[in-house]
Amino acid sequence: MSADLSPGGPLVDVRDVNVVFRKKAMFKKTRTVEAVKNVSFGIAAGETLGLVGESGSGKSTTGRAVLRLVPVASGAISVAGHDLLRLEGRALRKARRRMQMVFQDPYSSLDPSATVAASVSEPLLVHDRLSAREARARALDLIELVGLRASYADRYPYEFSGGQRQRIAIARAIALNPDFIVCDEAVSALDVSTQNQVINLLERLREEFDLAYLFIAHDLAIVRHISHRVAVMYLGGIVESGPAERVYNHPAHPYTQALLSAIPDPSPHRRRGERIVLEGEVPDPARPPSGCPFRTRCRFAMDVCAERMPERTAVEGGGEVACHLQTSGPLLAGAPLGDLTAAATRR
Ligand SMILES: Nc1ncnc2c1ncn2[C@@H]1O[C@H](COP(=O)(O)OP(=O)(O)O)[C@@H](O)[C@H]1O
Ligand SMILES: [Mg+2]
Repeated sequence: MSADLSPGGPLVDVRDVNVVFRKKAMFKKTRTVEAVKNVSFGIAAGETLGLVGESGSGKSTTGRAVLRLVPVASGAISVAGHDLLRLEGRALRKARRRMQMVFQDPYSSLDPSATVAASVSEPLLVHDRLSAREARARALDLIELVGLRASYADRYPYEFSGGQRQRIAIARAIALNPDFIVCDEAVSALDVSTQNQVINLLERLREEFDLAYLFIAHDLAIVRHISHRVAVMYLGGIVESGPAERVYNHPAHPYTQALLSAIPDPSPHRRRGERIVLEGEVPDPARPPSGCPFRTRCRFAMDVCAERMPERTAVEGGGEVACHLQTSGPLLAGAPLGDLTAAATRR
């Protein structure tokens, strides 16, 4: 799909991106929130990057920044070799149609007063300038492609289940043949079996069209099976990233370990150890802790953690982690979760 992409380079390349919001409160000083801090990642064509973290950690803002839907304070974003932050006018519109977004609530992307066929054909009429007849024919194909009957085309969103509505939103998102889709909590509101069906659909479309996904979810369990690589966010920054297998089996960051320990493990012969309860609340993003942002909730916190931000370091098995344990700690990051749990109990 992306003929002008240099071979081997990532389709989406995000480098040290920062997004800052100014919050105006009445009778109070305007506060700034660094919603996204020095975030970097790449996504190749046909690849899925899972982005996880608690609510408020900056996942949606990251996804919106990549689509240039929020102002980017600093950093660089390139898509298929184009410097996205420098594009304007026609070139920006052209770049944008290669990138789409699917939201948690299809009601926010589907017009409740428009039929399915009308919703799916709208981008074709607007951007592809197809005739009404051609657009409808293509919409019917898309509706079947996402697993719905073409005979549903003249129904309205309220006549469908949540999973079906999400399929319609996906049909609309792929109408213009994008290369890249941000799925922002796209399956989070669905029950588990519907989640799996929609994930299977996304997988099938990814393979068929070589799509790249930024797959956002607050729950690590959801992204596990769809992601090639995973990045974990906390208070605006990526604290750990790497191949999904490595992150799930050998999480290096105490925050990732805590998130993973909360997932029930279906395999009886693999012991995950005790559940790590995350104490306390996520700090106010407008007043983040000094040093490591996670230190106020970290059971391994050391003096150095309050003094300086840990650097990103490579993890055995792939990826990176930003944690002082990696460099100054008594524990070897990347050790199996059970070992770390045991070590923490001994302390
Ligand atoms: N438009 C906005 N204006 C001001 N603050 C915002 C805006 N959007 C998000 N934020 C703030 O940025 C931080 C990250 O939000 P968000 O990206 O939505 O997190 P997540 O998707 O991980 O739940 C939060 O503190 C949120 O309140
Ligand atoms: Mg969000």
